[in-house]
Amino acid sequence: MSVSKYREQWSLDSQVAYLNHGSFGAVPKVVTVAQREIQALEEKNPNLFFRTTLPTLHDEARKFVAEWLGSSPELFAFVPNASQSVITAASALVTKPRSQIVATSLGYGGVLNGLAEIARRTQSTLRIAEIAFTAGVQTADDIADSVFAALTPDTSVVVLDQITSETALLLPLEQIVRTIRRVAPQARVVIDGAHTPGMLSPMLPADFDVWVGNFHKWICAPRASAGLVCKNSTIANQMTPLAPSWDFEAGFPKSFFAQGTDDYSSYLVTPDAIKFHDSFNTNECDTHNRTVIDEVAKMLHNAWGTEPDVPTEMFCPWMRLVRLPMKRQLTKAEADALTLKVSQELNTETVIVSPGDSNYVRLSAHIYNEIEDYEKLKQIPSLMIII
Ligand SMILES: Cc1ncc(COP(=O)(O)O)c(C=O)c1O
Repeated sequence: MSVSKYREQWSLDSQVAYLNHGSFGAVPKVVTVAQREIQALEEKNPNLFFRTTLPTLHDEARKFVAEWLGSSPELFAFVPNASQSVITAASALVTKPRSQIVATSLGYGGVLNGLAEIARRTQSTLRIAEIAFTAGVQTADDIADSVFAALTPDTSVVVLDQITSETALLLPLEQIVRTIRRVAPQARVVIDGAHTPGMLSPMLPADFDVWVGNFHKWICAPRASAGLVCKNSTIANQMTPLAPSWDFEAGFPKSFFAQGTDDYSSYLVTPDAIKFHDSFNTNECDTHNRTVIDEVAKMLHNAWGTEPDVPTEMFCPWMRLVRLPMKRQLTKAEADALTLKVSQELNTETVIVSPGDSNYVRLSAHIYNEIEDYEKLKQIPSLMIII
């Protein structure tokens, strides 16, 4: 098996093909070293670290990351992860009881659960715009129409994924947001960009009110590290942390910093992860990841006699669903069992998902992956017989 020259820069098990960076990004060795240095500083004198060193390092990291995203430090805060950040934004923006929150049926499960609970607490409703994933995805117009149909004069927040989670689709965001601005101008648009940092350029969409993105996926920062960007100071003035605490009265973004004692080293070394990422030629990395995903998807489709279900313009660059040759849709428990079998019997980390009425393997490709890493996946159908 040919091993990528980049692979040695990660601590990944050399016996395992790691093909699920999309779920859990792996951290490069150099970034782990930087994090350990911060933690060592913390342990040398915790009192001095938390009172004096941490606020300064945190501000420096915040400034660096905000500017890298194309935003500014006054409009950017670190948050632990995309799930908590979307829920934070929606909680802060649903200010009126009996309003409506809109999300799509392809939204991330944990986020949809959180939105349902915010709706319950505010006596509001969660309306789901249905995006079918049966026998192929609809067109961009169909998707925009589904969101359109869910909007009402009471819609206060719309949550949209830049790249959908289970299905790895690049949503036609500009078109959808244009529709929202026209039909429901009172609605705030929250963009879940969990997969965006590192993969899409520009990262921030042209129009949004709040954007959240993970750094612990494609940018390879240590867990947990994510960011929340407010479009302008009006939105920032409305943004409150999920757990109000110290400096709450100072408002965004200071109110997001002092959330109690914790290990904030993952935020502090997020700039190191960004510098590591940018140390590659980013065009070369993008071309490599896209080429691997395209080639491997073709290889598996040929091996299994299946075809892509998704219009090519909705392919997200570095992840892809490839349909498995099975007649019956697997239950979630069966899909999880098959994912584990692939891990144990093929030494390959990936994920099996069953959106719509079919079953797929969801592939991810990062700079350390080579086409050969995916060869063993051809054997998945032989594992399925014994499920
Ligand atoms: C669109 C989307 N939102 C949220 C998440 C959850 O990310 P986290 O576990 O970092 O909160 C994911 C994870 O893959 C995702 O794809």
